[in-house]
Amino acid sequence: MSADSPTSAPPPGARPDWTIDQNWQAYSQAEHDVWTTLYERQTKLLPGRACDAFLKGLDALDLHRGGIPEFARINEELTRLTGWSVVAVPGLVPDEVFFEHLANRRFPAGQFIRKPDELDYLQEPDVFHDVFGHVPMLTDPTFADYMQAYGQGGMRALGRGQLHNLARLYWYTVEFGLLETSEGLRIYGAGIVSSRAESIFALDDPSPNRLGFDLERVMRTPYRIDDFQQAYFVIPSLKALLNATLQDFEPIYQRLTDAPDIAIDVMAPGDRVFTCGTQAYALAGGRLASA
Ligand code: PHE
Ligand code: FE
Repeated sequence: MSADSPTSAPPPGARPDWTIDQNWQAYSQAEHDVWTTLYERQTKLLPGRACDAFLKGLDALDLHRGGIPEFARINEELTRLTGWSVVAVPGLVPDEVFFEHLANRRFPAGQFIRKPDELDYLQEPDVFHDVFGHVPMLTDPTFADYMQAYGQGGMRALGRGQLHNLARLYWYTVEFGLLETSEGLRIYGAGIVSSRAESIFALDDPSPNRLGFDLERVMRTPYRIDDFQQAYFVIPSLKALLNATLQDFEPIYQRLTDAPDIAIDVMAPGDRVFTCGTQAYALAGGRLASA
């Protein structure tokens, strides 16, 4: 995800498009071990929870070797499958830089990895979130097209000052999306699959609302960046998600300027309700209470 800050110059050592070398040789054994710990936790948990496209992508990329993967190696397979590649960046990048990369089928991934005492929670996306969380889905042709379209739409929305509605779409799909399957709900959002606790919470906890995806509804719903989501939106298929975004968003942005936000914890008329959440977790104070 991108930083909200106005355009700033890339940090020293980064290229004008904010990319840096991954410098894979420089990772320490302790850093590789953090990846392996997180990787093993998630791959045990995710069968039956993550959607097939994610699990298939994970296999295709062969991230099973232990340690932080080398982007050059991942890219051979990723580019062959969908024309995407992963590029290293120092951390969050400005919106227009982020969109420009997506529009060109490049996914900017944090180069650094979290510290051993931050396994469960960190503020800025690191290489585990970005690569383990996001890249498997980019091997799926439909999702690959969606992400590129999002980058193109982001550039247009930025020009029109409409980014906040579009950012919600990213959040509730790319980061925290759920998918309906004949076997039950499955995760495709990167923010969920890269988090042990949220991989359980998002599917099993009675607290959050789980609602059918509707483009304008999602664009009217604020989100949380500091804790588990209070609402998740369920798409019927990746194709349906892509199809919903093929239309020109300009008329939607126009309508939304007059439409009030929908509170994060309520159900709205027209919602397809998978779970009417108790909101018990949020009401009890969330992460702060359980810390
Ligand atoms: N169709 C959108 C527009 O007109 C672009 C877009 C596609 C946005 C996919 C998000 C996801 O701006
Ligand atoms: Fe992310």
